[in-house]
Amino acid sequence: MILEKTTVHIGLDMPIKLLHVTDTHLALADERDDERKHELAGRFGDPDKEKYLKEHINYAHENCDLMVHTGDLIDFVSHPNVEKARELLKDDKIFFIAGNHDYSQYVGEAWEDNAYRMNSYMQMGYGFGVPMFWNSRIVGGVNIIGIDNSYYQFEDWQIWRLKREAEKGLPMVLAIHSPLFEDSLYKEHNRRRPGQCTYLAGCDEEHLLSYSEFRAVQQRPTEATMRAIEYIKSEPLIRVILAGHLHFGYISNLTGSLVQIVTGGAYEGIAREVTLE
Ligand SMILES: [Fe+2]
Repeated sequence: MILEKTTVHIGLDMPIKLLHVTDTHLALADERDDERKHELAGRFGDPDKEKYLKEHINYAHENCDLMVHTGDLIDFVSHPNVEKARELLKDDKIFFIAGNHDYSQYVGEAWEDNAYRMNSYMQMGYGFGVPMFWNSRIVGGVNIIGIDNSYYQFEDWQIWRLKREAEKGLPMVLAIHSPLFEDSLYKEHNRRRPGQCTYLAGCDEEHLLSYSEFRAVQQRPTEATMRAIEYIKSEPLIRVILAGHLHFGYISNLTGSLVQIVTGGAYEGIAREVTLE
């Protein structure tokens, strides 16, 4: 595994350590799955990602208060992928929130929206058997909140719940799959992958202008999403956002008191130890 380390000062008396892991993209298929799933299983290449995942989990057990997985644990829905995810997530050390691939039947085959997500979730037999759309846990006086924004959108109920969590008065870490738009991250994405859309939640029209029509429709924020992002940026208790989806690491400030940490793909072995102090 490749371990990166980041420290954020949020004024804790006793520091805590989170292991941020994201985008493992497990890609298993067996005789119960059809040919298309077997083709997908070969798509991502690296057979070591299961080994990396075990290393991440072992490291978290030995060194961290919590492992926070921000989604795309699996690459697509298959019998062994879902069974593996269910087995892994029984581990209380792992806090999980879903990413877009955790509901993908066949990667890129369909328009992915709430109906698609619910269809996959129910077909899996209530997903991975743990909360996937919303999750929360208090660790060492820090309130860790997971919100599924894997299709680039937030919904009003998620923000309503987030506000109830804020009433607890604890510093908060937000775990989401798709990072929030921020100018320097947008530019970094364009630098790394010229001509592509940036896969960030909350891009305004000006920043969507260079996107293909499909990607602009996919990633254009709804009013609820914009309300959510405005609230997230205005709530002083939300100190850290942990996100993935981009498969590269980047850290920047969304506001004077809110840092967004994007961690690279765990399928390549990357994990980030985040010390909050
Ligand atoms: Fe993703």
